[in-house]
Amino acid sequence: MMAKPRLSQGLPELVEALRDAAAPVSGETLAGGLGLSRAAVWKRMQRLKALGYAIEGSPRRGYRLLAAPDKLLPAEVLQGLAARYFKGPVHHYETLPSTNDLAKELGGQEAPEGTVVVAESQTRGRGRLGRDWSSPPGVGLYVSLLLRPKLPPEELPQITLTAAVAAVKAVRKVSGLAAGIKWPNDLLWQGKKLGGILTEMETEADCIRHLVVGLGVNVNNRDFPPDLAATATSLALAAGGPVSRVRLLQAFLEGFEVLYERFLAREFAGILKEWKEYAVTLGQWVTVRQGLKEISGLAVEVAPDGALLLQIRPGEIVRVTSGELAP
Ligand code: BTN
Repeated sequence: MMAKPRLSQGLPELVEALRDAAAPVSGETLAGGLGLSRAAVWKRMQRLKALGYAIEGSPRRGYRLLAAPDKLLPAEVLQGLAARYFKGPVHHYETLPSTNDLAKELGGQEAPEGTVVVAESQTRGRGRLGRDWSSPPGVGLYVSLLLRPKLPPEELPQITLTAAVAAVKAVRKVSGLAAGIKWPNDLLWQGKKLGGILTEMETEADCIRHLVVGLGVNVNNRDFPPDLAATATSLALAAGGPVSRVRLLQAFLEGFEVLYERFLAREFAGILKEWKEYAVTLGQWVTVRQGLKEISGLAVEVAPDGALLLQIRPGEIVRVTSGELAP
């Protein structure tokens, strides 16, 4: 007996077929085009409606797509995505504890490089240094990308800096804001935090088994919890209007794949040069907090391995590999 196709199978193609059509499309035409039965097409229409797609019509008159939901659904993310490798599968959830946790789990199950996990909200979103990442529903981008570079774990900071360059470029492209990077990978606009990256890996002997790049961006938030209100902002607040989360994710995947290829081709020096062009802290007197310890100095350089070099007094340079720059 032939295996029944899963209900999620063919959804992006169905949305694309409806989107491309100038007039209502019959169930028969859709079924023929997608290699499904008419009953299977009908079931998928119900599924799309449940996901929030406004679809008019009936199996007899044909179907017409009136509106797509403002969600990071696979059919939306994959539509027009100009990526060659970072193009899913896209796992979308209304809510997850943390997209990084699920992506790590999928990494352990041999999911392919380029697997994307995205959620409309997170109940236990995690930031760097053991912090929480506020993840209210429908307004932010909470995404994790699975990578499988055959590299030693020491190269993780460089991959994170590479992801930060991709993220800041995507933010600039989609919102038009002159966003910058605060070492190592905070996305900033006028001193306030727009987003950040949490990279986590599994290792095996002296090699990365898989790694997860988790990106969180405040996109359409209109306000923030009291503890964040003074230090955080969103693309919508900064740009003065809503920004498409789908376009932002697409721009990140498209841009990151190009930079990641350059990184694998051992071209990190060029990527670091770009990182420095976006860095807002180089050349400034800064304080790095590492737990209870603080180090202050002039941020003179970022080393080829991603460490921040602080000149703490004339002739004395300190390498900083972890911690957070005080605002
Ligand atoms: C930071 O502290 O600046 C990093 C924040 C990273 C948040 C993202 S949201 C998607 C992914 N899932 C998580 O739990 N964290 C990352």
